[in-house]
Amino acid sequence: MEERENRIITAEEQPADDWQYSLRPRKLREYIGQDQVKENLSVYIQAALKRGEALDHVLLYGPPGLGKTTLAGIVANELGVNFRVTSGPAIERSGDLAALLTNLSERDVLFIDEIHRLSHSIEEVLYSAMEDFALDIVIGKGPSARSLRLDIAPFTLIGATTRAGALAAPLRDRFGVIERLEYYRPEALAEIVKRAADILNIQIDERGAAEIARRSRGTPRIANRLLKRVRDFAQVEGDGTVTAEAADTALSRLEVDQAGLDRTDRRMLDTMIKKFSGGPVGLETLAAAISEETDTIADVYEPFLLQLGFLMRTPRGRVVTRAGYEHLGIPWPGDDSGAPSLF
Ligand code: ADE
Repeated sequence: MEERENRIITAEEQPADDWQYSLRPRKLREYIGQDQVKENLSVYIQAALKRGEALDHVLLYGPPGLGKTTLAGIVANELGVNFRVTSGPAIERSGDLAALLTNLSERDVLFIDEIHRLSHSIEEVLYSAMEDFALDIVIGKGPSARSLRLDIAPFTLIGATTRAGALAAPLRDRFGVIERLEYYRPEALAEIVKRAADILNIQIDERGAAEIARRSRGTPRIANRLLKRVRDFAQVEGDGTVTAEAADTALSRLEVDQAGLDRTDRRMLDTMIKKFSGGPVGLETLAAAISEETDTIADVYEPFLLQLGFLMRTPRGRVVTRAGYEHLGIPWPGDDSGAPSLF
């Protein structure tokens, strides 16, 4: 538990990330990477502006820390409307949602983070709001209860989720635009690191930015946080400039390895290999073995390890690949097919 809380490369938003708000790009042209998503959104925004209509509802999905909230804020800014922010777990009663919806002005953006965590009864309220810009409110109880339909301003819902599959199909179907954010390529991440360093007045060279980018698991939120920590090391133990050497020293001390894995990632692979012969192992079993939440494994660790090719998903569970064994320096027990011999 303690380890999880102290995790430097967690992709969860932290209170200390407040400083990042000043780093958040406000315009689409300032937003680095995710080119396809950006190009598509730019067209939809321009079209909505030309027609003078609310933009269709947008669902953004992908691993945490890739900039879903930032992008939603940019969309609102480009549309020139208000940006209202809430999250699935924060909406406890349908009245909470009704209050939010009735306070929206024409064409405003309502952003719901972790939208897959909305309760079923609240999803129901959202359906008519999204489709007809109307709220069905029940007044009274029992036989005298009456239903009242309330019109609300046409608005744009932007939902964010780590997994589109976690969303109820009727909700997913009501989004006209569905875009998936991908892990950033190292070149894009290096640009993001340099931009942040510039805003924060941190001296950094190309190789320093590249080193942080390469070890930030494709995630800007992690890259920006590591930048801050590396600066600390550079200031105390060097001349204050973030060089490749300073980055390497700091990241090694933080136990972020050459591929960007931290202690928890390595522990997960190591446990799979030593306790489960490399797999296949089910998500629940694995979660219990390393004392982590299944959702955290599914949303944070696994997608990146899959992306690196250290893990494979099979119908029977997760399997460590040859590359995964080699990364940990453990001899590969399988043949050359890419899967362990017992599989
Ligand atoms: N800061 C965090 N993510 C960013 C991005 N995609 N572009 C520019 N700055 C960022």
